[in-house]
Amino acid sequence: MKKVRQPLVIGNWKMHPTSLVLATKLARELKKKFGQRHDATVVVAPPFVYIESVRALLGSGKSVILGAQDAFPANDGSYTSQISIPMLQDLGVRYVILGHSERRALGETDAEINKKLTATIKAGLVGVLCVGEQARDAGGHYLSFIEEQVRHALKGISKSKLEAITIAYEPLWAIGTGTNATPADVHEIKLFIERILTDMYGRTNAQRVRILYGGSVNSKNAQELYSEGAVDGFLVGGASLKAEEFVSIVHRITHS
Ligand code: PGA
Repeated sequence: MKKVRQPLVIGNWKMHPTSLVLATKLARELKKKFGQRHDATVVVAPPFVYIESVRALLGSGKSVILGAQDAFPANDGSYTSQISIPMLQDLGVRYVILGHSERRALGETDAEINKKLTATIKAGLVGVLCVGEQARDAGGHYLSFIEEQVRHALKGISKSKLEAITIAYEPLWAIGTGTNATPADVHEIKLFIERILTDMYGRTNAQRVRILYGGSVNSKNAQELYSEGAVDGFLVGGASLKAEEFVSIVHRITHS
């Protein structure tokens, strides 16, 4: 399938690596391996406390762009422990992952995700909305589950903001398990999400939203998932912690 946009590959470091020394080592390796030019948009989302150091190593952000794993929707105030979007912006962050299943598992609701997404794109950052089912069922209930997640998160968001939204389809059963969804599964859900967006915003507007896949992506399955799944790129967890593997995922889909 012919692609019209540059692929987007986001590395979600989650709560890794275990020290600043290791985080800066990883950032240094990425910087070296990616060099100055590649035909993809590459983002890394380190834990908050490493962002500043990673930014210092990655430089101006042309080759690897900074992301964050969450953000709080108010700009400032008495919100102990929270990190605001302007704070992230000030550190050079341009992408914010929102509604990851690991955050939903800690109690984050669709309403909170909607607030965060709305505030993120209002500030001019890209919001990466994660959706995905816990398990598949023969009756196809997982489809309505995904549809609910998409519709709730986008509530009140106007079509003029769709360019700033990326949706990552991440089935829970594929995250960190070593069992990725098949390219056919990925393609099915990509079309399904496009249909929901078309229903909400019309066909042309719907196409402004990028759709990624995440869940046990590695350098061996990346090419097939990208071309047959027909997605715009990946949200990568475990494999983004090994510079060589992460770089080769990007190479596989840009040199295919
Ligand atoms: P994984 O994680 O690549 O380790 O499966 C993906 C994610 O949780 O974003």
